[in-house]
Amino acid sequence: MERPKMNAQQLIDTARLLVAGDKGLLAIDESNPTCNKRFEALGIPQTEEARRAYREMIVTTPGLSNCINGAILYDETIHQTQKDGTPLIQVLIEAGIIPGIKVDTGAKDMAAYKGEKITEGLDGLRQRLQDYAKTGARFAKWRAVIAIGKGMPSRACIASNAQILGRYAALCQEAGLVPIVEPEVIMEGDHSLERCCMVTEEVLRTVFSELYMQRVILEGMLLKPNMILPGLTCAKQPPVDEVADATVWCLLRAVPAAVPGVVFLSGGQPAGLASARLNAMNVRFKSKMPWALAFSFARAIQQPALEIWRGDDANVEKAQQALYHRALCNQTARRGEYNEMVEGK
Ligand code: G3H
Repeated sequence: MERPKMNAQQLIDTARLLVAGDKGLLAIDESNPTCNKRFEALGIPQTEEARRAYREMIVTTPGLSNCINGAILYDETIHQTQKDGTPLIQVLIEAGIIPGIKVDTGAKDMAAYKGEKITEGLDGLRQRLQDYAKTGARFAKWRAVIAIGKGMPSRACIASNAQILGRYAALCQEAGLVPIVEPEVIMEGDHSLERCCMVTEEVLRTVFSELYMQRVILEGMLLKPNMILPGLTCAKQPPVDEVADATVWCLLRAVPAAVPGVVFLSGGQPAGLASARLNAMNVRFKSKMPWALAFSFARAIQQPALEIWRGDDANVEKAQQALYHRALCNQTARRGEYNEMVEGK
């Protein structure tokens, strides 16, 4: 059967715009439970109003579009307004930032595979994508979680998550939304950098085989992978350049050149280190990479601002300055010009 018509050129243009110049993406798509967890740690009330005020603080940051091409929203946020009633999505569009939306409904325990996760959200996705597109979203995001441990990841976990990512991506393109495909190999564990590299390569190869099977237009999507890092409790933590080399080598082996951009997640890395690692990749490999190498960080851009804001209106200006600073550091890292002076050390 013929696939429904879609505007392939529009998808390609949007994907290119998302990684254009030296800017990146800002992920503010934490689900309510995840956002509440971050608020709780800082004594911020875990209410809908607090989440709204926090997201308003972020999207109204002066000059944000100097460093950010697109922002990923969560379902609650895409329907929220700023205090004067203007929809937050409109604030972004007017600032020149392309709005996107997280459309998975979370990583759940995988039946029969203890310790592994499978991401849910395909049921009703076609309709939800059409609704989000009408609301103004131009791209979407889906995160799969792959854990490393004894006997993990299983082939079943990699294959099932990859197939779901392929089906999600095809549905996005049908609805005219650029899919961001995010298979995250998480940092928990004591595994080595080499093991992370092997697992990530296998995951990426499997994902791209599924994307091919589902007839996803590679030119009209973005990949959001983890950097190649040892587990958080691994005794050997490598220098920045080693992470940069391992990450780019792994991507060069597994990511087709047709993909316009790779936008990293930060995964809980300290903010400055995430910038330094992205910078090293661009310094060492920029001319050798077929895709743009950018960022789509949540914590590595937001965390310092959240710690300043703490739910208090009086802190908005300082929090926005901190948010802008992190966005700027990552923009500089994309250019390969990030250093301690830019960081302000
Ligand atoms: O899906 C995960 C987020 O979009 C990226 O979050 O940078 O905190 O890992 P992170």
